[in-house]
Amino acid sequence: MTSADELKKTIMQQAQGAMSLDLAFVGVTNGLFDALAESDASVDELAARAKVDAGYLRRFCESAYAFGYLEHQGGRYALGELGRAFLSTAPGTLMPFAVQTVLGAHMAERAAGLMKTGERPGESVLAERATILPWFGPMLEASFGALFEREILPRVDAFRDVDARGGVVVDLGCGNGWYLRALARHFPRLRGIGLDGFAENIRQASERAAAEGLGTRLSFRAGDIYDYTVAEPVDLVAMNRALHHVWDQKDKVMRILRDALRPGGAVVIWEPGWPASIEALREPRRRAMAFQNLSEHVQGNHFLRPDEIESALDEVGLATSTLLFAEGTEAVVVGIKNG
Ligand SMILES: C[S@@+](CC[C@H](N)C(=O)[O-])C[C@H]1O[C@@H](n2cnc3c(N)ncnc32)[C@H](O)[C@@H]1O
Repeated sequence: MTSADELKKTIMQQAQGAMSLDLAFVGVTNGLFDALAESDASVDELAARAKVDAGYLRRFCESAYAFGYLEHQGGRYALGELGRAFLSTAPGTLMPFAVQTVLGAHMAERAAGLMKTGERPGESVLAERATILPWFGPMLEASFGALFEREILPRVDAFRDVDARGGVVVDLGCGNGWYLRALARHFPRLRGIGLDGFAENIRQASERAAAEGLGTRLSFRAGDIYDYTVAEPVDLVAMNRALHHVWDQKDKVMRILRDALRPGGAVVIWEPGWPASIEALREPRRRAMAFQNLSEHVQGNHFLRPDEIESALDEVGLATSTLLFAEGTEAVVVGIKNG
């Protein structure tokens, strides 16, 4: 085969990969995989079960059969192994890949259109697609929850200190609240307050905390990080993948973080670790981060190097240290306020 043919073959495989994840997104967001988990079904039965239109569903099922998500026999569809891997309850569910792919396509389309003028519409771009926003929180939870509980949580001493005091953790830009839920499950005495700019995230966060029986220890409210003030100093302020969203006013945000803490309290910032050199972006683990930084640009943001975060915390007098995870692609920077 000529190298042109090889390139075409590679790109065709990649195109099919994107298509298959676009299709999975249709299934995930309409609860089709979950509805089929109960038992096999005809199109009409499944349409009634999932409360969707049978005409659209027929085309989805044919396509999902073509890509191996569903099996077909005698006019009935059943989940195949691949479809089962996208179930919301599947351990290590593949759901985030479907959501990321369609979110990525949306952001790419916006970047393509905005490149000439340089306009950067901001956070609102995330909410432009009604089907994507409700899946943003669950996508992040499924992508990072296990890493947090298995590797990060055991290595951050500040969490244990807050629990010992029965203290308060504030999560700024809390998304669907998964981080506070994980902390509250592990540490029975700490309490949490989450703040986020999207009302849909707060709705999900409150609902999920209540469903897990954590509603009396965790509370969530909609609001802007830039306006955040505390009635009384708190023990720990966490920001997960949120600092880069407010970096354009970093001096103000750093003062907010420092002033929110009691003496001896800690800031725990978790961000993707943007590398110091462009060559590192070629590493398979970092490619997605490089693409995501283009979509961050549309939202008015950019990713940060861990040393930039450390310097900003240093400047407001916090004593910093950085922990790296996932082969250095994830950075947790801790800043302690002098006791
Ligand atoms: C990438 S998400 C991370 C969400 C969550 N921390 C997690 O790890 O799943 C960034 C979050 O920051 C929130 N955010 C960004 N800017 C904000 C602001 N100025 N005020 C409040 N929330 C903000 C967004 O609504 C979004 O939920």
